[in-house]
Amino acid sequence: MHQNKNQNINKHIPVLLNEVIEYLSPRPGQNYLDLTAGYGGHAKVITDKIGSLNQSVLVDRDKNAIEELKKVFPANKIEIRWQDFYSASQALKQAGRQFDLILADLGVSSPHLNEGMRGFSINNSGPLDMRMDQSQLLTAEQVVNNYSEAQLVDILRRYGQEPKAVSIAKAIIKSRPVSSTNELASIVAQVWRKRGKLHPATRTFQAIRIAVNNELELLEKSLTLWPDLLKPDGRIAVISFHSLEDRLVKQAFKALSGNRLDAELQLITKRPVTASPNEVVHNPRARSAKLRVAVKINKKGN
Ligand SMILES: C[S@@+](CC[C@H](N)C(=O)[O-])C[C@H]1O[C@@H](n2cnc3c(N)ncnc32)[C@H](O)[C@@H]1O
Repeated sequence: MHQNKNQNINKHIPVLLNEVIEYLSPRPGQNYLDLTAGYGGHAKVITDKIGSLNQSVLVDRDKNAIEELKKVFPANKIEIRWQDFYSASQALKQAGRQFDLILADLGVSSPHLNEGMRGFSINNSGPLDMRMDQSQLLTAEQVVNNYSEAQLVDILRRYGQEPKAVSIAKAIIKSRPVSSTNELASIVAQVWRKRGKLHPATRTFQAIRIAVNNELELLEKSLTLWPDLLKPDGRIAVISFHSLEDRLVKQAFKALSGNRLDAELQLITKRPVTASPNEVVHNPRARSAKLRVAVKINKKGN
């Protein structure tokens, strides 16, 4: 059988799948909210274990992911929302919805990184796009070509922890207009000159991507809403891929838990769970994944 080349490129392997199943421990009759459903890898296994799609919800801000989800899950059996998870969480909270299991597997998917045309990839050239939701107006091209030096330095430092933020910002401004990911990657490579294990533009790409998609602000605001979306004894799992995200998750879980009367959550993972060496060999994206899980305290004790 011929394998479609794109199928291979697009394949997204769910990270920490066994660990997510172990910690969320899905049971028949429960319902599930997937805040970053992507290509449905986690969602399929979890909803199969629950045994029904009834009352479960899948969210993603990427239209391509939504189209793929609709192929896997019958739209009349499960609610699929094309929305960012903050807007979706607000709407679900307003509607009084609650779930037994919630998963947020943050960041980008393999198709984002592998398809040059989406503009996330350092290695596959494409336009400077980087929007997860391609209906959004702000693109990486606008950030790279229109932002002031001070704005670029701020983004590179805050979202990329880039030590050469000032030199990179100056080099970008000198090279304007910059039109492709290749061009951006080589501008940064010229500033760094020496190449280590990571491509020297990795931090720059991460920073611009976070800025374009407003990733940290949406995460921070959403984290305070998620306990309200859990049923008593319900479980939430969050997978992050870099220290800026993980810090927000850790701080929010800590603020919502602890030995206090008003604590809403109890932590299940004292330390973040990481991928086994075997998983990293098969799925290098899992290398930086950190899983944190909490359970909603049942104050009525039912
Ligand atoms: C790591 S992938 C999730 C993969 C998924 N767990 C699977 O097994 O296929 C992350 C997904 O989250 C989506 N995403 C990231 N930030 C989002 C946000 N703020 N709101 C909604 N979706 C978001 C991305 O579009 C991407 O499809």
